[in-house]
Amino acid sequence: MSTAKKDIKKITTHILQRMKVQEEKIAMLTAYDYSMARIFDAAGIDILLVGDSASNVMAGHETTLPITLDQMIYHAQSVIRAINRAFVVVDLPFGTYQGDSKMALKSAIRIMKESGAHSVKLEGGAEVKDSIKRILSAGIPVMGHLGLTPQSIYKFGTYTVRAKEEAEAQKLIEDAKLLENIGCFGIVLEKIPAKLGKKVSETISIPTIGIGAGPHCDGQVLVSHDLLGITKDFHPRFLRRYLELFDTIKGAVEHYISDVKSVNFPGEKEQY
Ligand code: KIV
Repeated sequence: MSTAKKDIKKITTHILQRMKVQEEKIAMLTAYDYSMARIFDAAGIDILLVGDSASNVMAGHETTLPITLDQMIYHAQSVIRAINRAFVVVDLPFGTYQGDSKMALKSAIRIMKESGAHSVKLEGGAEVKDSIKRILSAGIPVMGHLGLTPQSIYKFGTYTVRAKEEAEAQKLIEDAKLLENIGCFGIVLEKIPAKLGKKVSETISIPTIGIGAGPHCDGQVLVSHDLLGITKDFHPRFLRRYLELFDTIKGAVEHYISDVKSVNFPGEKEQY
């Protein structure tokens, strides 16, 4: 049961822009490896994000800060090998773009050259303007990320909803306009009030992709391990789990262990 328009051969930034204009919602998910990316692409996902959330769900770190550029490139290469249709965005990891626009461009070029990805995403507004401009000047599409920006977790102190106060909401709107003006093709809005998600989506002409930012964004993104129930003890209000794969896989492995121990596996037809 997929409502994706599979007649579209390959998703591009132009198609994403057209989807906003035609009010067709954009579906985005994270992917970090070949096998999962293949399934998501076959299902008709519009955008695959090789997110730095790989640091959490693939490597087991508490935050997104430790993941390296080499590790992000490895994940991106695996995802790119799997896709036919989806547009692939890769996160620039912490420490590879802030404060030095030349380093930002170098990092983005490595991702594009070594993985074959289609674009990069980075967190922040006015503070990273120069880095975004320089990356764009090389013809690399850039996606912004505002609201809760996990690479700044030690500045925020918590993962609670951002921009509830007027001043922060106003800064977020100004940052969104700035990202649009300098040429970003889209913006992720993470964990902000739905009302603000609506306002930003109506104010700017590029697509907004929400995660905990309400239904009025032009698209939605979730971390695939959360949607599939592979992660277990994570229950933010915005998350809808479509499967409980942790329990399903655990049950299958328990069954396998029991079959091995009882010499029920391999059976007659499972040997040479
Ligand atoms: O890294 C990631 O998974 C992300 C999403 C939360 C948007 O940036």
